[in-house]
Amino acid sequence: MNDQKKILLIIGGGIASYKSLDFIRRLKEKNFEVRGILTRAGEHFITPLAVASITGNSVPTDLFDPENEAHFSHIELARWADLIVVAPATADFLAKAATGLANDLASAIILATTSKVVFAPAMNVRMWENRATQINIERLKSYGYEFIGPTHGSMACGEYGMGRMLEPVDMVAEVERRFDLPFERKYRAIVTSGPTREAIDPVRYISNHSSGKQGSEIANALYEKGFEVVFIAGPGSALPQAGMEIIHVNSANEMLNAATSSLPADVFVSAAAVSDWKIAEYTDHKLKKKNQSQGLKLSFVQNPDILQVISKDKKNRPRLVVGFAAETNHLKANAIKKLEKKGCDWILGNDIGEETDTMGGDFNEILFLSRTENDKWPRMSKKEVGARLADRIYQYINSEGT
Ligand code: CTP
Repeated sequence: MNDQKKILLIIGGGIASYKSLDFIRRLKEKNFEVRGILTRAGEHFITPLAVASITGNSVPTDLFDPENEAHFSHIELARWADLIVVAPATADFLAKAATGLANDLASAIILATTSKVVFAPAMNVRMWENRATQINIERLKSYGYEFIGPTHGSMACGEYGMGRMLEPVDMVAEVERRFDLPFERKYRAIVTSGPTREAIDPVRYISNHSSGKQGSEIANALYEKGFEVVFIAGPGSALPQAGMEIIHVNSANEMLNAATSSLPADVFVSAAAVSDWKIAEYTDHKLKKKNQSQGLKLSFVQNPDILQVISKDKKNRPRLVVGFAAETNHLKANAIKKLEKKGCDWILGNDIGEETDTMGGDFNEILFLSRTENDKWPRMSKKEVGARLADRIYQYINSEGT
């Protein structure tokens, strides 16, 4: 690389900071020039000496250090970088950046820079899910900051969930992609995921066991491929990494509205396990039981078929519409019927029989069907299914789809 790109890494104070030295090493292997600075909290985990040794550059730590300021001021550092990566970005640092505080070196640089800034959050799942953190993230995004991750996984604190920083190898790929312009998210995908919930009365509902894991992995993989992704999440659906637009819905009707109002798009992936039925007459008060011998009769009406509505949309049909066929028997025959009836382009048939552990589990076995193809994929993780599907979608959209 003649035009060596300059990365300023701001290392925050989280246990994930142990990954930062490996991250720097890998960036340097790719011929990036790297400077590192540590927040005060970061210094509790990694020493400036370690960062200086691996970057080959001095590591200023104090905004008010006269020597640093005279040598390479925070404004110069802010200007020097082609890209600033904050990793790990703690909840505290995100809050600071979101409010525009500049009372230490790292936050002053964020406020002073005109370069692109990407945050790689890492924190405990509860801190990640906390409304305050999510509002800070929304605000930072609205200012034009970008996010890498986090992802799901087990955490140093022993919990499991969203909030894990990406692995250094994936972080480097994200950095490289930001220089690999034109990397504008020129294609748009909508992914529905998880179950829907149909209310019976204010306290009860019918739903299903869908975890939304497959949908969220598809969204992640499409996002990694460079799609702009709108993720429509049924209640309790696993959520994809930050950076996507997420619309939370409950019922099938809400999901349909969210999907149609997110059009136009290049791709629609209908991974949600939409409830086929809703209660014919919703009761606006809690249904009371009467005497014990009396049962309860509920009547249902059919929900709209979202996949079918989108496939048959005359005005805004995406170039590629992908559905799933969740079957407990006659997988292939039923999947072919669904492909025809719903008018989508591809169907991913999957066996959801009890013994398969597909619903809620981490693995899936896909029968891929299009009008010309019939391809059985080996059993693989939902993440791998997401990656494989995203590859195919990208190829399709980027070639014949144009
Ligand atoms: N789907 C949808 N809206 C519905 C029902 C299903 O968008 N009301 C979509 C699902 O997201 C999936 C595909 O249609 O992509 C097939 O869903 P599936 O549950 O396998 O089949 P159903 O259409 O519900 O048919 P059946 O219950 O008879 O198998």
